Amino acid sequence: MKKRILFVDDDQRVLDALRRTLHSQRDLWEVTCVACPKAAWEMVLETPFDAVVADVQMPGMSGLELLARIRATPRTRDVPVIVLTGLAARELKRQALNLGAADLLSKPVEPEDLVARLRNVLRLKDYEDALRTQNEVLEERVRARTRDLLHARLDIIWRLGKAAEHRDDATGNHVIRVGCTSRVIAEMLGKDPDFVETLFLAAPLHDIGKIGIPDAVLLKRGPLSPGEWEVMKRHCQIGARILREDGIAKTAFWEWRDPSAAPDDPDQKNPFLEMAASIAMAHHERWDASGYPRGLAGEEIPPEARIVAISDVFDAVCSRRPYKEAYDEDRALEIIRDGEGTHFDPDVLAAFLDSLPEIRSIRERFADTTRPRTSIEETADEADPVRR
Ligand SMILES: [Fe+2]
Ligand SMILES: [Fe+2]
Repeated sequence: MKKRILFVDDDQRVLDALRRTLHSQRDLWEVTCVACPKAAWEMVLETPFDAVVADVQMPGMSGLELLARIRATPRTRDVPVIVLTGLAARELKRQALNLGAADLLSKPVEPEDLVARLRNVLRLKDYEDALRTQNEVLEERVRARTRDLLHARLDIIWRLGKAAEHRDDATGNHVIRVGCTSRVIAEMLGKDPDFVETLFLAAPLHDIGKIGIPDAVLLKRGPLSPGEWEVMKRHCQIGARILREDGIAKTAFWEWRDPSAAPDDPDQKNPFLEMAASIAMAHHERWDASGYPRGLAGEEIPPEARIVAISDVFDAVCSRRPYKEAYDEDRALEIIRDGEGTHFDPDVLAAFLDSLPEIRSIRERFADTTRPRTSIEETADEADPVRR
């Protein structure tokens, strides 16, 4: 493809001479000559030129101003500009270089000089274009790989969360909804994007400790005895223990497989696992210190756990479980509002209520698949809809 070159000079005789000079290159270069710098600027915006050669002193717009505009406009920023100046114009030359001129040529222009300089400038632009294209390809590859990693991470986290809930929520998307709802509430609270993203990933694992609770307790119809209740409460510590990082195992693994790939700081914490463990431990704490397992009060409860507490309870109340029926939204909201300042952080509750339209759309988008009711569900206990 021919290279497109634009010449700008208000002196028609100079343009004619340039055109004659470049006639020999007509198979390689397509030359456009224009006497008006403003018209030249409009052409540069419309046509992707490979190089511009501009005189400095022109009426209406100087060559330096044209150069500055080309450099300042993202679409034209990479077009090389050769500036034509008088032999003695040292200050002008310095200004042109400071503004990003690709090269300088003194008038009157020697034909061989012009062809040689243009060839260099065009070659350099080819390299730069190739490099830019290669960078774009690499960046797209990195973006695609990052996307794939996020998808794989989400798949594993959601499946792990669902595995934990499988016995009392075999077909539900509860853990996905809790992740999405927590994300929306955190955004409404103005939390920083890293916190929001980590919370979104960590929240689905809030009940992973249920893996360690026996069926006789987890699936029991009717109220739990005090002893059974104590067993049920243990799912918080079990979850935190599963999620808390095991630095010793990680170090041992890398020493065994590939010491050069070991983390620089073996004690460095994974923020996702840290937050997931914190949520697993504290999602049943209550604002008024009446929760479990530690009876933390108010802001002693980590913010991520305060957010998941409300997402979890709202979604559990609206969903059917072996031991309870699903409540409609009005009743669920009544339960949530009753918990203001006792069960829930009032600020988080306000953000939850402000986010209701989006939370409703999450419930629709990730609705549970329907399945026949089991006998255990037919005797659902509605007395304690949020107990677990
Ligand atoms: Fe729980
Ligand atoms: Fe839950």
